[in-house]
Amino acid sequence: MEIKTVWAVYFSATGTTQKVVTTLAQSVSKSLNADYREFSFNAPDVRKAELSFTPQDLVVLGVPVYAGRVPNLILPYIRDMIRGGGALAVPVVLYGNRNFDDGLIELRNVMRDNGFSPIAAGAFVGEHSFSRILGAGRPDADDMALVQQLADGTADKVKDLTEAPAQAVEVEGCDPIRPYYTPRDRHGEPIKDFLKAKPVTDPDKCVKCGLCARLCPMGSIDPDDVSNVVGKCIKCCACVKKCPKGAKYFDHEGYLYHQHELEDQYAGRRAESKIFL
Ligand SMILES: Cc1cc2nc3c(=O)[nH]c(=O)nc-3n(C[C@H](O)[C@H](O)[C@H](O)COP(=O)(O)O)c2cc1C
Ligand code: SF4
Ligand code: SF4
Repeated sequence: MEIKTVWAVYFSATGTTQKVVTTLAQSVSKSLNADYREFSFNAPDVRKAELSFTPQDLVVLGVPVYAGRVPNLILPYIRDMIRGGGALAVPVVLYGNRNFDDGLIELRNVMRDNGFSPIAAGAFVGEHSFSRILGAGRPDADDMALVQQLADGTADKVKDLTEAPAQAVEVEGCDPIRPYYTPRDRHGEPIKDFLKAKPVTDPDKCVKCGLCARLCPMGSIDPDDVSNVVGKCIKCCACVKKCPKGAKYFDHEGYLYHQHELEDQYAGRRAESKIFL
């Protein structure tokens, strides 16, 4: 099949998804002698407009795994606003060294149902949004070697295709999709008010540069008073990890309990990235 443009399309609050998706798409575009284009849907305004593709496109589309699934507040944009139009696709998820559960199969299914033809896929490990030690430094050189393998395998597959395959690529996960992973306290009960946790700002460190307000993918930080989180917080940690002064942090008891539990359980082991061709 002749592909004219290979796209890197992603939501990536702390940059790990962006790194994998752009590297993968660039490599496939080179192998296929196709144009390369990037599209980030981090910004809330960008998600108000439709995005459409054609059979001459190959779309590498990536999101992080949140609670074992496609982030629930980002899913409506992918489901309702992105049109595959017969494009070939490579769904990609990044996960924070715990598990990608049903994140990849959910993304694959939504894309398939939207007129994409998913021919390859990958789940890669990235540093966990909540932590500096869980999945630290991931995706690393070994992960990126696997990204290259996926790029080579995808390009070879495209060169052999005469038409879009009838079946979507097989990936790991359960179908029907399982419920969202629920953070629990030491008694096994769902952590109280976890969804309501928001970052706070250290006034002694903040220099009021406004970067966090510009970066927040929910548009939830008041640009006139960045200590005020006026809208929903998905705990993506863009503001925490990208503040140049280290002024943003979470002090919510349940959030901190969950962060430390994840670190205790998963920081000492290496989860592997996986590709599907
Ligand atoms: C709200 C939330 C939920 C998450 N849930 C999971 C999870 O279920 N499993 C996992 O391994 N990582 C989980 N993560 C970690 C992210 O998937 C991981 O850090 C990813 O690399 C972040 O991508 P980004 O750098 O593109 O933002 C979660 C992160 C957030 C913010
Ligand atoms: S990015 Fe950091 S320093 Fe800049 S306004 Fe936000 S909290 Fe303050
Ligand atoms: S306020 Fe919440 S949603 Fe906005 S950047 Fe910070 S962690 Fe992400």
